[in-house]
Amino acid sequence: MMNNDVIVAGYICLDLLPELYPADNGTPFEYVPGKLLEVGGTRAACGGAVPNTGLALHKLGHRPRLLGRVGVDAFGNIVSALVEGAGQGLSRSLINDEQLYTANTFIISPPGQDRMFLAHAGANRNFSSDDVLNAGFDDVRLLHFGYPPLLDHSFRDNGNDTKKMFQVAKSRNVTTSLDMCLPDPGAGSAKIDWNAWLDNVLPQVDVFLPSIDELVFMLGNDKLSHLADKLLQRGVAVVVIKLGSQGVYVKITDNPKRLAQMGACAPVHLEQWQNMEFMVPCFEAKVKGTTGAGDCTIAGFLSGLLRGMSAADAGRFACAVGSCNVEAPDAYSGLMDFDATLKRLNSGWNMEDDCVDKKIWRKTNAGVYARSG
Ligand SMILES: Nc1ncnc2c1ncn2[C@@H]1O[C@H](COP(=O)(O)OP(=O)(O)OP(=O)(O)O)[C@@H](O)[C@H]1O
Ligand SMILES: [Mg+2]
Repeated sequence: MMNNDVIVAGYICLDLLPELYPADNGTPFEYVPGKLLEVGGTRAACGGAVPNTGLALHKLGHRPRLLGRVGVDAFGNIVSALVEGAGQGLSRSLINDEQLYTANTFIISPPGQDRMFLAHAGANRNFSSDDVLNAGFDDVRLLHFGYPPLLDHSFRDNGNDTKKMFQVAKSRNVTTSLDMCLPDPGAGSAKIDWNAWLDNVLPQVDVFLPSIDELVFMLGNDKLSHLADKLLQRGVAVVVIKLGSQGVYVKITDNPKRLAQMGACAPVHLEQWQNMEFMVPCFEAKVKGTTGAGDCTIAGFLSGLLRGMSAADAGRFACAVGSCNVEAPDAYSGLMDFDATLKRLNSGWNMEDDCVDKKIWRKTNAGVYARSG
């Protein structure tokens, strides 16, 4: 068996989606105590950064090791079977937690109404840096970590456990990347000082790929370039901000030494990365659902990085994978393998660039939008 080239660690859960029918008389769905409501079949799918980004990387031709905790219970068996179904051996590194349930999210999504989530973090509460460090880094070039706001050990204590995990990875020449999520507004993680957490952890993060909503929650509302500067000043080398249906914004350090310190995935051609700032709009897609779109966009960018692409090509590839994702309702079925995705990208796939202010941004020969001034 070939060794893993990338670790994807952090949050994993089982999503359960009962199909709800539209009400006959058009009345909105409501919870009525004592009433039986007939529903359609329930779809089960893996959720969280580990399966979403991990399985996308596998689809794109990489050899990920998926490190996340599942309970020793029926839902844990389903998660393992779904992961294994995407590729033989992929479930091997999942960690069985003897104490807690498998995390699960019931997604109550009535037609025409906003959805509600009933979420239980379960075994993720026991995830810690030891789960990654015990597995080792042989041949691993990249460590991607997702959703610290849902992982107790990762958000507590100013992020010291997360910092330690990234520090050890970097000492082994492994490139590090980080994805966020929004904390549950009622949970403990919503009340911690995220500024201090970012101060502590980001110096160890080479590539940071949050969404704009998460950044605004943690740093306050500001211009994209100012938010990115706040992250670069904390020591991140490459900032990728996901903008939902507007694609991604990328800003990269002007410091060549910092780029060289990225470890195994450090860019070989510095001039293709250093001091870059650009936008990549989404590619045209018939949207069937955005589940896992952010995680798949990240997988696209990381695949570009692992393959030594230029920053512009990695950004375009990220949006290409994101746009494939939204063409299917789930996180996985819309994705294509690396060659097919690249072929689609290179055969005149139109960008949805109406959202780009052409007074500020102009399209470059590399196919991204850079500042015109
Ligand atoms: N309508 C769309 N058409 C094409 N691509 C899209 C569309 N909506 C989202 N995407 C892709 O998905 C990414 C999702 O970005 P978003 O800002 O929603 O991240 P996120 O909040 O982390 O998402 P997620 O909820 O999946 O974690 C975008 O950067 C883009 O590449
Ligand atoms: Mg996300």
